[in-house]
Amino acid sequence: METAIPTTPTPDDAALWHAGRLYLADQRILPERAEFLVYERADAVAEAIRDMVVRGAPAIGVTAAYGVVLAARAAFAAAGAGWKSAIEPDLERLAASRPTAVNLFWAIRRMRDRIAVLDAADPEPALLAEARAIHEEDRAANRRIGELGAALIEGPTDIITHCNAGAIATGGYGTALGVVRSAFAAGKVRRVYADETRPWMQGARLTAWELMQDGIPVTLQADGAAASLMAMGSVGWVVVGSDRIAANGDVANKIGTYGLAVMARYHGIKVMVAAPTSTVDMELASGAAIPIEERDPEELLGCGGRRIAPAGCAARNPVFDVTPAALVDAIVTERGVVLAPTPEKMRELMG
Ligand code: MRU
Repeated sequence: METAIPTTPTPDDAALWHAGRLYLADQRILPERAEFLVYERADAVAEAIRDMVVRGAPAIGVTAAYGVVLAARAAFAAAGAGWKSAIEPDLERLAASRPTAVNLFWAIRRMRDRIAVLDAADPEPALLAEARAIHEEDRAANRRIGELGAALIEGPTDIITHCNAGAIATGGYGTALGVVRSAFAAGKVRRVYADETRPWMQGARLTAWELMQDGIPVTLQADGAAASLMAMGSVGWVVVGSDRIAANGDVANKIGTYGLAVMARYHGIKVMVAAPTSTVDMELASGAAIPIEERDPEELLGCGGRRIAPAGCAARNPVFDVTPAALVDAIVTERGVVLAPTPEKMRELMG
């Protein structure tokens, strides 16, 4: 049965399917305004992913899966029994939307596998069921990740997190923030320090918003403030999400994560990467092969709609970096925990 669409998105509502349409909470304007945008075409969904209406690796995957449903509807309307060829350009558009989060390609692969076993009849009901399953499974995975990650934390302690790996970045509950939620419920978290995360401010806007709604004590800090906080001694863990984990346990995540991991090792603080197995890419031997998205330098040259840097200033804007496995203490997935990741342990996890 269809559920009603909430008038105002909550952190659990990154992507919702309702009455044949896809609703995306516009993450570019949260928390100042909480609004849904509505989608009926796959090319517009691809654009929404590229433009950061929806972001966060698992939420991108869930959104792409619903995008495939819209693509199938259009392909069947245009080509009837020939829908399997007609859908291709939209599948390619969705896959080209962002390069780093492997959940996008994982979700499209899974939808393709479903497409492969369908006949010439209307594909929408079967593909919608698959997209809903991807969404539900991600939500359930995050609950399990939360439990497993919280069990590693000896509290009470302070936690640093970077970017937003929360409910709004996933199918629900969150990965890094799922661990924080479960650990807080178990009395293990004193306070979360959220890096603001230049230039999109996912920490300032989304992590702070999510945790405040749950009554979890959160303090925002400039990205450059993490080292001095670590030196004060109250932080036990850095807990982050991931966009892609290579077969040797190297981890791609929001730019700045690598620096945090280096600083954490120096200060004797542990690093936990919380991510579903849909984020693990066993086809890439190491993080060196992970494609790192470079976005428009304009994102960096200004702030809040105001130009900051001098005209003509050069800027580089890689939006992810790779943390070597040697700096990761634990990778927490719904299938289990990998401590001090190695290729062998990753192979064992992934079967
Ligand atoms: O550019 P973004 O906002 O999509 O980057 C998101 C991150 O880096 C997250 O930490 C990662 O996707 C994990 S989300 C559960």
